[in-house]
Amino acid sequence: MIESGLQKKYKILLLGPNGQLGESLKNHLEAFHELECADKKKFDFLNPTNFSDILKKNKPSLVINAAAYTDVEGAESNENLANQINSEALKYIASACEALDTTLLHFSTDYVFDGNKNKPYLEDDKPNPISIYGNSKLLGEKIISDNMKNYIIFRTSGVISNNTNNFINKIMLAAETQKELKIVDDQITSLNHSDFLAEAINKILSSLKIEKVNSLGEIYNLVGPSSGTWFEFSKFAQRICKNRKKKSKFADISLTPVSSEEMNFKANRPKYSHLSSDKIKKEFSLSIPSWEKSILEIFK
Ligand SMILES: NC(=O)c1ccc[n+]([C@@H]2O[C@H](COP(=O)([O-])OP(=O)(O)OC[C@H]3O[C@@H](n4cnc5c(N)ncnc54)[C@H](OP(=O)(O)O)[C@@H]3O)[C@@H](O)[C@H]2O)c1
Repeated sequence: MIESGLQKKYKILLLGPNGQLGESLKNHLEAFHELECADKKKFDFLNPTNFSDILKKNKPSLVINAAAYTDVEGAESNENLANQINSEALKYIASACEALDTTLLHFSTDYVFDGNKNKPYLEDDKPNPISIYGNSKLLGEKIISDNMKNYIIFRTSGVISNNTNNFINKIMLAAETQKELKIVDDQITSLNHSDFLAEAINKILSSLKIEKVNSLGEIYNLVGPSSGTWFEFSKFAQRICKNRKKKSKFADISLTPVSSEEMNFKANRPKYSHLSSDKIKKEFSLSIPSWEKSILEIFK
């Protein structure tokens, strides 16, 4: 740890720096921490045996894992791939971090829950995933908590960003070639801009002393305060798109609310998976902005 004014600086190894959250973390952390990024070329989760060597070479005090297999539909026909990236590779990462006394910050999902609760899920509610993706992420959580002392798992949901791989960008792209968009209106969750999540991680790291990070073995929910359906998210996005006079067919396309059954998805998704962020709010005095603000961030 290097002291720089009031900022504590950690040497951090960031995995998955080119994904939505990875890119935001890179942008938010690099000014305050000594950051080494390992993309797929430097460390492939499908060939994880060299992780220990990478860790010994870089000697970070923290590893942040923003890499994952995030294709919920794709996972249903690629179970091995999802498990390899979201859980099996973590055996190597967790054991190397534990052996070298390196803290691991990892991300998980609201999809570890079955959605049968009708109020926000707490960290210690019993997970019961109903999709291959959710199951692979839960297995990853278990590998970390069973094999490590010093870790923090942040469960988040509906990550959006200003790069192309997310719900808002996908519906805007689909609007270019379709006359009507059918959007699911019976799954309740929240959207969270990756910059807001990265800002929160940065705040946590700057407020924590390394000794405290090293005594954590915790799960924290990290999402905005309110929830909505994918249809509500898309209607709000459309309103913003119109108000801002964005040149996009999305501004005028017909949006139709439909049930999950009508969409014939391969993967089951929880009907209700909003997470309560009360624990992180209380312990770190921070909160993630609402899903409306996350969407506004896309249209800035
Ligand atoms: N997206 C969501 O809506 C959502 C919701 C809840 C929780 N989460 C969790 O939040 C975290 C971040 O999600 P995200 O949306 O930022 O993910 P993302 O945009 O899909 O990025 C995933 C990253 O993982 C990397 N990756 C994939 N396969 C890899 C491999 N074999 N070896 C090395 N790297 C590999 C990708 O690298 P390439 O770019 O090189 O392929 C990419 O940088 C994940 O843990 C995810 O489960 C996401």
